[in-house]
Amino acid sequence: MKTTIFTHDTVASAAKLLQAGELVSFPTETVYGLGADATNVDAVKKVYVAKGRPSDNPLIVTVADPETVAKFAQVTPAAEKLMAKFWPGPLTIILPIIPGALDMAVTGGLQTAAFREPDNDATRDLIRLAGTPIVGPSANLSGKPSPTTAQHVLHDMDGRIAGILDDGPCRVGVESTVIDMSGDVPAILRPGAVDEAMLEPIVGPVATDKHKVGAKETPKAPGMKYKHYAPEAQVIIVDHPEQFPAAIAWAKAQGYDFGVLATDAILTAHAQGLPQYSLGKDLTSATRDLFAGLRYFDLHPDVLVVLAQAFADDGFGAAYMNRLGKSAGGQHFTEA
Ligand code: TXA
Ligand code: MG
Repeated sequence: MKTTIFTHDTVASAAKLLQAGELVSFPTETVYGLGADATNVDAVKKVYVAKGRPSDNPLIVTVADPETVAKFAQVTPAAEKLMAKFWPGPLTIILPIIPGALDMAVTGGLQTAAFREPDNDATRDLIRLAGTPIVGPSANLSGKPSPTTAQHVLHDMDGRIAGILDDGPCRVGVESTVIDMSGDVPAILRPGAVDEAMLEPIVGPVATDKHKVGAKETPKAPGMKYKHYAPEAQVIIVDHPEQFPAAIAWAKAQGYDFGVLATDAILTAHAQGLPQYSLGKDLTSATRDLFAGLRYFDLHPDVLVVLAQAFADDGFGAAYMNRLGKSAGGQHFTEA
């Protein structure tokens, strides 16, 4: 299959492919998604095949307006408030479905489903022109970092999908916050750019599912149980900027090739002449560029270890640390 690149100008052709049951990757403010007509079971099944993803992992139903959600789910007043406040934007809302309104291939057999309206005009036009909501997992091969550019998508999906709608690099860089509104207490199942402090004024106290890979409890978002964002190199988290000299000395002493994934200040101070990828200047740029950095080191197979910068694990930092923690399999640098 030839994978065609579309732009906002040619979005109507991309919409026709979706209507024909083909897969088209779409841009969002978070990461690129892998789109298929959410009401076409055969199209949805192709998504799992293209990603190499276990089919028990439910998909997000991506919409172009909040009104569409009521066709598929029971929209509570609290959910309505969230949509009014944060949509279009990086918040995915889990709601009880109207029985029979969505196929098992979308819900993974659950009585709930995830909904999101992304903040991207090209994608909202794509959905409107296709005339149907689209399922939208991230457009990476299962286990790889989520794609934040059309080039990343092409790298993983060339020949596996019909098209990619290219709208440049993603602004946020990590996937949306997932909030479960189907139970008694709203629960954050995945941290993202919309954090607890932004949600609580709207819906009251929220619970946070601090699931870590390898923990024994069953995670509430099925996708959180798989090893994610795993680059070829071993990622080691350096908790504090002042630990970089010791971490670099340790890696040199081990004798293998290693790289540094950190903000400019750290690279300039400590990593001259070493393989490196810049996370820009602060937490916002670091979150935006994290997945691109992990993918960069995948293109340099000689690099066996990546020393990666940590940020404080709260607020927006929780989203960054959640993804970095998974890519590292929980490994932190510790001084002997
Ligand atoms: O930012 C995003 O959300 C991106 C862009 C493309 O929209 N999409 C994305 O989709 O990250 P995906 O499929 O990679 O992640 C969806 C997450 C998974 O962890 C999945 O298990 C969880 O949401 N999820 C979906 N439906 C659920 C449900 N009914 N109950 C609990 N978790 C659910
Ligand atoms: Mg994903």
